[in-house]
Amino acid sequence: MFKSIVVMAACALTLASAGAHSAQEQGPILIKFAHVVADSTPKGQGALLFKQLVEERLAGKVKVEVYPNSSLYGDADELEALRNNEVQLLAPSLAKFEKYTKQLQVFDLPFLFDDLEAVNRFQKRAKGRQLLRSMEDHNIVGLAYWHNGMKQLSATKALQMPTDAAGLRFRIQPSGVLEAQFNQLGAVPQKLPFAEVFTALQSGQVQGAENPWSNIYSQKLHSVQPYITETNHGVLDYMLVSNPRFWYGIPHQVRMQLEGIIDEVTYAVNRQAEAANQQDRQRIEASGSSQVIALTAEQREAWRSAMRPVWQQFEPAIGADVMKAAQTVNRKQRN
Ligand code: LMR
Repeated sequence: MFKSIVVMAACALTLASAGAHSAQEQGPILIKFAHVVADSTPKGQGALLFKQLVEERLAGKVKVEVYPNSSLYGDADELEALRNNEVQLLAPSLAKFEKYTKQLQVFDLPFLFDDLEAVNRFQKRAKGRQLLRSMEDHNIVGLAYWHNGMKQLSATKALQMPTDAAGLRFRIQPSGVLEAQFNQLGAVPQKLPFAEVFTALQSGQVQGAENPWSNIYSQKLHSVQPYITETNHGVLDYMLVSNPRFWYGIPHQVRMQLEGIIDEVTYAVNRQAEAANQQDRQRIEASGSSQVIALTAEQREAWRSAMRPVWQQFEPAIGADVMKAAQTVNRKQRN
């Protein structure tokens, strides 16, 4: 009896040490984090801070590689690569998940959120949190929301009233809401990957675009867009995502530490995003290459009325509950 207990214990020890040994042999867990923007943007900075904190706190256990500027995967293939675990972290803009859930299109609705503060409130409330899990059936799990900023309209001509956009071709992200928004103006929306935006504007393939200041500045879009209208008509934010099989397969203790780091990085990104965008706005103005057009209250209202019908059009797909929750987060309530 005693002998068999000793043998069993020895076996268990051997197995445990073999397990530990093979874990060491396998080396640290590798997290590839790919994205499509520059290192200097809110998302680019967030990815680098995540890498830095992981390397400080989980050295030898987790290794992070960051691939900015569509250098590993771009808009066309990054979500498929994530689902196949060829990359483990992404932070696509909320406009890029349409294929996997329609609910997130709430973020694309024009003039729904007054500012980033309102977006922030929605993301923190129960409905916003629920949307992080809305794609688990598709092997995508949301870990956090990261801000970029409010979008501005740029073009080769001055856009003061919505009618000024009629007939112009605008680059859009792959979102039905954004397509409808430009159709509403009598403009021609064209879906293009982010990596192609500069060339498409430079060559005249499209004449306009919508972007936050940080993306305009870091991609030098202002050098090929002589007019930028400060519309703040919609938000461009991100969801940090992984695939559940990978994420929940990380040993519990390590995953908890990673999730703690993500909370810290999220706080830092979201606290700095607005200031970073305002700084890039000033840099664009200082460059003298584009005229920044401010709208009067009446002009802004005209843009809002022109785009507003898109809400009704997408309510059935997004869900009345989600839309209702999003409409309660502005300080000034609107109907
Ligand atoms: C875009 O395609 O315009 C953006 O989603 C790019 C980004 O990641 O900010």
